[in-house]
Amino acid sequence: MNDYNGIKTKLLHANYLKDYLKNNNLLNLKYLSEKENNSIIFPIIKNFNLNNLDFDCSFVKCNFKAKIMKKTYKDLVLQIIPSELSFKFNKAYDIFGNIAIVEIESELIPYETEIAKILIESNDKIKSVYKKSGAFEGEFRIQNYIYLAGIENELAEHCENNVKLNFNIGDLYFSSRLSNERKRIANLVKLNESVLIMFSGCGPYTYTIAKNSFANKIISIEKNPKACYWANINLDKNKLSSDFIKEKYLKKKEHFDKIKFKGPLHVENHCGDVREIIPLLKKEHDYFDRIIMPLPHIANNFLDIALLVAKKGTMFHLYDFMDLSELENIKLKIKKECKIHGFDIEIKNIEICGEFSPNIKRICIDFLII
Ligand SMILES: C[S@@+](CC[C@H](N)C(=O)[O-])C[C@H]1O[C@@H](n2cnc3c(N)ncnc32)[C@H](O)[C@@H]1O
Repeated sequence: MNDYNGIKTKLLHANYLKDYLKNNNLLNLKYLSEKENNSIIFPIIKNFNLNNLDFDCSFVKCNFKAKIMKKTYKDLVLQIIPSELSFKFNKAYDIFGNIAIVEIESELIPYETEIAKILIESNDKIKSVYKKSGAFEGEFRIQNYIYLAGIENELAEHCENNVKLNFNIGDLYFSSRLSNERKRIANLVKLNESVLIMFSGCGPYTYTIAKNSFANKIISIEKNPKACYWANINLDKNKLSSDFIKEKYLKKKEHFDKIKFKGPLHVENHCGDVREIIPLLKKEHDYFDRIIMPLPHIANNFLDIALLVAKKGTMFHLYDFMDLSELENIKLKIKKECKIHGFDIEIKNIEICGEFSPNIKRICIDFLII
């Protein structure tokens, strides 16, 4: 086999063979495949048993062209920082619209502007780079940011899951890394559900659910006045008008025809403390089918107030940070807290949806009032 570095088959079988090579780690990714009349030759790493393939192919020798590898953000940064500091470089960053947020370790501060410029050059979407300064602080979980490079602009025009979110990055808590988690929740929402979002920020859960589910009522509560301001701006930005709703239902007509939607969709943003707003909501809205509590660390301190508007069948999504070895304790704690208020629960799912540190995960506990 030493002379053979490729495998040849008819173009007809190209996709199948390529998948087989990839799945079995046999494709040599350093080289480009070659076409020859009606055949294709893929570069391979080693010989293997052809009996596993149920179409004609043969090993061949080929002079493959090497792939030109574009240097990544990380490759370029590693060229400008001392090699002994390379382990301090964190290539992960958040993106809020055209703004990238990086984390810079103190040893890399002398190189931070250069690092930020490299990031802008390596990603066409990024126009501004800021770095995190300190941790999320205070009741409103606000993060401070320091400008590093590009256009000085703190107004994020972020898009995710068909939702537009505008906000000033220094005004409120937001994490783009949770967009999949928000979509997961929206996918769980059933037709005509009433949903309560506690600690709603500028509305990422509110509008992800409004635009990606058939909820009938979505009520959000947020205490930070600046986040409330942006949540209302985002209500307009997302055009949850009757025309939009009609269009959405028409797209899913078969669904709409089968079960009656109790429209129109009702979206309400409340600015204030959940402890003050929820008792008022109880008078107007009674109970909710789903309650979302995205306030890790202390969400369970608010279970008593959330349970005021819960009933048998209400599904909760409560977020927390924890070492997974603590999971059984937190499950027991939630069960106990609900029991004190007269509710039995069934924990349906624990979703790991992020990382606070290598050992501490962000989790969502999905539990049902039974
Ligand atoms: C971790 S952030 C989540 C924001 C948003 N749901 C998101 O995912 O981007 C928690 C939010 O809860 C708000 N908050 C904290 N205590 C609150 C309270 N007692 N009542 C209402 N909102 C509160 C904070 O201002 C903050 O915006």
